[in-house]
Amino acid sequence: MRNKIAAANWKMNLTLTEGEKLLDEILKENIELIEHQQAIFAVPFPYLQFAQKKVLGRKNYFISAQDCSDKKSGAYTGEVSVDMIASLQITHVIIGHSERRAYFNESNSMLADKINLILEKGLIPIFCCGESLEIRESGKQNEFVAKQMSESLFHLQPGQIEKIIIAYEPIWAIGTGKTATTLEAQDMHGHLRTTLARQYGDKIADEISILYGGSVKGNNAMELFSQPDVDGGLVGGASLNAQEFCTIIKSLPK
Ligand code: 13P
Repeated sequence: MRNKIAAANWKMNLTLTEGEKLLDEILKENIELIEHQQAIFAVPFPYLQFAQKKVLGRKNYFISAQDCSDKKSGAYTGEVSVDMIASLQITHVIIGHSERRAYFNESNSMLADKINLILEKGLIPIFCCGESLEIRESGKQNEFVAKQMSESLFHLQPGQIEKIIIAYEPIWAIGTGKTATTLEAQDMHGHLRTTLARQYGDKIADEISILYGGSVKGNNAMELFSQPDVDGGLVGGASLNAQEFCTIIKSLPK
């Protein structure tokens, strides 16, 4: 079975004390994750180390960075490299979040560079893709998202692509309270998997977890995650509330 994943994206929220309290409250629930289930917390850079210590020894709990530099090292003030992230024993890195694409002009080719650095270092990229409302309304969402994937991912070898996690996050559903219907989510996830299969074959496409992101909450997670091609969620707002996120983790298929 593919990995089923509840991933929290804290974005630029919470002070250190608030972050510690939230993580403590969630971990206190001792939700046991079985073999194919995972919980991932994408925390701000300064919190990576404390968060990593807290999940140490907890089976299938991981910490992720929210981004990384597309450069290996050097005179890039303010940037954080994959090597730095890896040196904290962090295992995952989100890249290509629509907020990074929109506010920091991250392009598909820049993300291809980031993917290469992440995989080179043996970390797992969580690659985000997704269309704007305008593109959805024009009916061109399938080709738009396929292009995002092909320009950032399809240079990878089969042995590399199978290591990644994909997150489909329609921009119109992020932070808006407007979730894609289960049908819309399943349709797009099915399309992404078919696109992967066309490039890499059914076996590899079948192994890649594709998460849905965009107003996932405790009360809609189970239905979304029950779709055949939806392998969990990447959660913003609701991941900042311990009870909500615990419900989301518990909604992962067994
Ligand atoms: P919300 O869950 O707040 O809509 O955010 C989704 C998201 O962007 C996760 O990366």
